[in-house]
Amino acid sequence: MPPSSHDQLVAAAGLPRLEARMLLEMVSGRSREWLIAHGPEPVAADLAERFHALARRRLAGEPMAYLTGQREFHGRLFQIDAAVLIPRPDTEGLVDLALTLAPPGARVLDLGTGSGAIAISLACARADLRLCATDRSAEALAVARRNARALLGPDWADRIDFRHGDWWQALPDDARFELVAANPPYLAETDPHLDSDLRHEPRTALVAADGGLDDLRRIAMAAPRHLTPGGWLLLEHGREQGAAVRSLLAAAGLVEVRTAQDAEHRERVTLGRLNAAGDAMPEHPPHAASSQTAPDGS
Ligand SMILES: C[S@@+](CC[C@H](N)C(=O)[O-])C[C@H]1O[C@@H](n2cnc3c(N)ncnc32)[C@H](O)[C@@H]1O
Repeated sequence: MPPSSHDQLVAAAGLPRLEARMLLEMVSGRSREWLIAHGPEPVAADLAERFHALARRRLAGEPMAYLTGQREFHGRLFQIDAAVLIPRPDTEGLVDLALTLAPPGARVLDLGTGSGAIAISLACARADLRLCATDRSAEALAVARRNARALLGPDWADRIDFRHGDWWQALPDDARFELVAANPPYLAETDPHLDSDLRHEPRTALVAADGGLDDLRRIAMAAPRHLTPGGWLLLEHGREQGAAVRSLLAAAGLVEVRTAQDAEHRERVTLGRLNAAGDAMPEHPPHAASSQTAPDGS
């Protein structure tokens, strides 16, 4: 059989043309423009075989981001692998909110940093912030450090203090932050997406006990001990969890508790702060939490 051309490989892959082109760019090391200009030319057999191997994985449902090893987040390209959650556009809202709320020179903590998407985006956007980022997964921290080196340059290790450990235990007891952000696991073990579109991503990044609330609770309850007076806690969560997370923050004694909605009016980030005196007030009943939920509950 004569060798296939670049154009024939793309057309016969059974994938959307853009995805097939991205995979061919990756295996050939050529730009999109080069591949279009040289479309009718034959492809070497070893390159065609590598392309088919990737196309098969894609057809079996593996996310493009794991095949190409990268994903754009908040305007920058992050390197990723199967040890980390693929950063989602939804989390860019959390970053934007943190940039609005963090005072000049703030100490900011990203709990469960994964690829480093939140902490590194904050460091890129604001040179004044003093960042700390943690994860329980050593493999995820290795990915985050690689991204920090690539995106922040030679002084990356001075810009972000990466720490390994279980939520707050990764930090000294006396660590205090003006702002803490986290996108923790929040899916219930029974969530049907775990066996379909999310099946390639690490379960440890996705699933939490107690119907998805356990990690959100553990972060919220200890937050007052690690916030400065007036300091903010920002938690990303599932779109149906707004009311439950407002209750958790109120139960932890935080004030000004509310849920921010995204552009589609979905409840995705709940925030609250330690009062100006630095006292948590856990006597607040959970139902005292305020809400910005739209009248239709969306
Ligand atoms: C939903 S992913 C978020 C990753 C990244 N922050 C993002 O938004 O793309 C949750 C992260 O929390 C980490 N994680 C899970 N349980 C943890 C724990 N008990 N302590 C610290 N990190 C944990 C996971 O390894 C994972 O990287």
